[in-house]
Amino acid sequence: MKKILVLGSGGQIGSELTMRLREVYGDSNVVATDLKPERLTQAIQESGPTDGVDATKMDDVARVVKKYDIDSIYNLVAILSATAEKNPMLGWNVGMGALINCLEVSREMKCALFTPSSIGAFGPTTPLDGTPQDTIQRPRTIYGVTKVTGELLGDYYHERFGVDARSVRFPGLISYVTPPGGGTTDYAVDIYYAAVKGEDFVCPLKQGTLLDMMYMPDALNAAINIMEADPTKLIHRNSFNVTAMHFPPEVIYAEVKKHFPNFKMTYDVDPVKQKIADSWPNWMDDTCARKEWGFKPKYDLPAMTVDMIDKLKKKFNK
Ligand code: NAD
Ligand code: SER
Repeated sequence: MKKILVLGSGGQIGSELTMRLREVYGDSNVVATDLKPERLTQAIQESGPTDGVDATKMDDVARVVKKYDIDSIYNLVAILSATAEKNPMLGWNVGMGALINCLEVSREMKCALFTPSSIGAFGPTTPLDGTPQDTIQRPRTIYGVTKVTGELLGDYYHERFGVDARSVRFPGLISYVTPPGGGTTDYAVDIYYAAVKGEDFVCPLKQGTLLDMMYMPDALNAAINIMEADPTKLIHRNSFNVTAMHFPPEVIYAEVKKHFPNFKMTYDVDPVKQKIADSWPNWMDDTCARKEWGFKPKYDLPAMTVDMIDKLKKKFNK
């Protein structure tokens, strides 16, 4: 059985991926960590081992890998796009610091490593419709620069040192357990919270802004399945395009409105987020992920909307 370390377990993905990994590999085999261990959900704290780890400190990563005899690392530590644009040095130091430490520790201690990339790894000179797996990557955000650098480093460590580094380019992820941490795609989560709480919603992106999205259960499957994939079938590694749906704000609004006919959305465009969104793909081509390791998402916009609303109603006793 694998012994897995999750770095950044307190975040939007980590709060759910940790629990999913525990279901698959056993509670005691998945160590949940975060810079702020108080961010870990009660479910994580009560179901298995936890630790406080600063991923930007190599000694701290090495300590926890040794302590728990880890062979696989899920590195979820980053500063998301909109927050990183406000403090580029923080975005670089956290994203790259955590990654290089994970790669070095993985090289020395023979761990497999998963680190998500993002639609943010693309930029305005990328073909934005049907963005190919291998294409121009000239992002204009510090977040994107860290993601492209991370993809290159992952492939370099694999080819040069044999580190089993793998990755997917996640689109905007929609979920109900832990709110997102300051990204450009957060609006597609926030709109559900507003509708269920009976509030109006102010959308920070303008009408017509197409972006790739995915519901969290599909993202969790992708993260686990890429790490379980037969390495002899992988032509690519860092990093695979994966997506489940793409829509502009007015389309998700119309879908939510089917469930809440009185729900109101207005627009107040955030120029920083809009510029970022305009530079990201309208939709990615994820054929390589489907062919090389069988990626196949289950949720489309209507199915996700039904589940999100159901789960948020329970969360807020509505
Ligand atoms: P998040 O911001 O919700 O969570 C990140 C977690 O990392 C937080 O709990 C934070 O406390 C922790 N952290 C920050 N600095 C740390 C440090 N020095 N040491 C240890 N922990 C630290 O992020 P997320 O949305 O869960 O994203 C996880 C990964 O997935 C990131 O690499 C992100 O770029 C990528 N990704 C996310 C999305 C999305 O929509 N959520 C989309 C594409 C890619
Ligand atoms: N959801 C992320 C962001 O908007 C995409 O990587 O930053």
